[in-house]
Amino acid sequence: MGVVSVVVTALWAMLPAYVPNNAAVLAGGGRPIDGGRTWGDRRVLGDGKTWRGTAVGTLAGVAVALALDAVSESTSTLLDVAVPAFSLPAAFGLALGAMCGDIGASFLKRRSGRERGAPFPVLDQLDFVVGAVALATLLDFEWVRSTFGPAELGVLLVATPLLHVLTNGVAYLVGVKDEPW
Ligand code: CTP
Ligand code: MG
Repeated sequence: MGVVSVVVTALWAMLPAYVPNNAAVLAGGGRPIDGGRTWGDRRVLGDGKTWRGTAVGTLAGVAVALALDAVSESTSTLLDVAVPAFSLPAAFGLALGAMCGDIGASFLKRRSGRERGAPFPVLDQLDFVVGAVALATLLDFEWVRSTFGPAELGVLLVATPLLHVLTNGVAYLVGVKDEPW
């Protein structure tokens, strides 16, 4: 297994977890998940976590997995890398897990006194990876075990923050996101 193979496998497998947050930014709005409730003098989650954003983000992640599955064989042949195929539970787990990781991060941000939109370095960049891998593991352990070895996980920890900073920076510059994180 070469370096290229590890990097391609890791990024391919995580695409259904990368897309949901960006889809949620585009789809956000409507009723907040916490229904406006507070814990102490702070919101439980805040207006930045909505049912619509979460639902659309999750569906977008699953759609990405189905689209990748449709081209996985031709891609494997083309790149000479055996890219993984997604099971439906794995795809759903990655997508919803990514959203849940992000929601959990907002919960921690509010508890630590950070207002909506405030940056929380490292947590902002990795919350959704942790959530995605965790829920995918619960729903399809075998898929996660056979897809993510130590090398792939290492690539994710390094490449994800870079991709996150890049995509959010672009979303900010084109005006769809209020802050570049
Ligand atoms: N969004 C949403 N539902 C989610 C996640 C995101 O509707 N589950 C939308 C919201 O419109 C949100 C935007 O995507 O404002 C950007 O997401 P994010 O940066 O995660 O939220 P913030 O508004 O920055 O709030 P927080 O400080 O809680 O992260
Ligand atoms: Mg934010």
